[in-house]
Amino acid sequence: MDYLQIKGGKKLQGDVVISGAKNAALPIIAATILSDKDLTLTNLPNVVDIRTLLKLLTMLGGTVDHQDTVVHINNATINSTKAVYEIVSQMRASILVLGPLLARFGECEVSLPGGCAIGQRPIDLHLRALEAMGATIEIRGGYVRAEAPNGLHGAKIIFDKITVGGTENIVMAAALAKGVTTIINAAKEPEVVQLCEMIRDAGVTVEGIGTSELTIHGTDRTPLEFQNTHIIPDRIEAGTYLCAGAITKSSITLHKVNAEHIRSSINKLEEMGCEFAISDETITLYPAKEIKPVNLITMEYPGFPTDMQAQFMAVLVMAEGESLVEERLFENRFMHVSELNRLGADIWLKGNIAAIHPIEELYAADVMATDLRASSALVLAALVANGTSNVHRIYHLDRGYDNLEGKLSKIGADIVRMKE
Ligand code: UD1
Repeated sequence: MDYLQIKGGKKLQGDVVISGAKNAALPIIAATILSDKDLTLTNLPNVVDIRTLLKLLTMLGGTVDHQDTVVHINNATINSTKAVYEIVSQMRASILVLGPLLARFGECEVSLPGGCAIGQRPIDLHLRALEAMGATIEIRGGYVRAEAPNGLHGAKIIFDKITVGGTENIVMAAALAKGVTTIINAAKEPEVVQLCEMIRDAGVTVEGIGTSELTIHGTDRTPLEFQNTHIIPDRIEAGTYLCAGAITKSSITLHKVNAEHIRSSINKLEEMGCEFAISDETITLYPAKEIKPVNLITMEYPGFPTDMQAQFMAVLVMAEGESLVEERLFENRFMHVSELNRLGADIWLKGNIAAIHPIEELYAADVMATDLRASSALVLAALVANGTSNVHRIYHLDRGYDNLEGKLSKIGADIVRMKE
């Protein structure tokens, strides 16, 4: 198993090119199941989760030619509608094939994703919505078996909780359903927007893109003809590098980034004393002399993203006063707290609120990554910890960060990948 060895205390400086968004690419790859024509996706991030979903597509019989940041897909050849445990257990987002497989083929079997380090993460909202669209769903042997032999029909779906994956699954299913589907309380994340735009650009009428009410006029099982799609920049990767600049008090410029997508993170960093120069596709961070404490609450987009909570907590450990962080989306997303405390942080947890008390210094230690974003928080803390830290179990990082150690060492971090 690989781990990262990081010698803390280096100032960073320079440019980071942001990769395509994993969380935009995953639903878009799943959406290609709605088509039987050639399609090219560009600006894919080089991360394990993307390779896992492309492997699943290949196992379903799809034709996949993937090199670096580009993939050519043709799903005319799909000959199986079973997403096996072996893949889904590696990556929960595999559940995104449920809606498109069912909509195009009228049946599918997808392994239940099960729990996850950050919370239970049920898929009940996905399933209830598909039932409302005419699917018969049964859970047996760890699999969701869904059937709609005569196709899905449009329905009015009201999500009682905002769900990114649920919205994506239903938008994809609705694209090939018969009639009109309305989704009330839909997710508005930029990744959901890109998926909706891709489906709209394939000729499907999609109204309300970027709002909490989406209306989709389905094609009654006529497969879609997508245009080639360039994946949007990864807003969470971008936010993580801004945190790297903030915590090491270094000036960093991000390229190929969309500042609008990370407005809430930029606002928080400004509150902490950082300054920014923003142009079309670049963001330069000028660090705070002293990091001011702030309070933050995670919310759905455009609120403060839960996927940035751990990284901001690492930065707030170095602030000049006490901060409070409230996690509202996932019940167990504080696994990084005890690891940050092993590096010398002083964080107290009560329920879903963490109080971060100021400290003089962090000291290097061996720490263990527990989930994707928690891992990057440990890397950030190690960048300023006194001495050499080892961050173990970085397979979590490899799932979602494209060449993290390469991008960080290019701007001056002392970070190397080692074998256990
Ligand atoms: C997506 C992102 C993930 C991010 C999350 C919230 C991808 C691949 N992953 O995950 O990085 O942290 O959005 O922004 O895009 N819920 C239910 N029932 C359901 C579905 C969800 O109760 O059927 C709950 C979840 O447990 C969670 C909340 O709703 O508490 C939000 O989850 P959701 O938006 O669905 O997250 P994902 O799509 O899994």
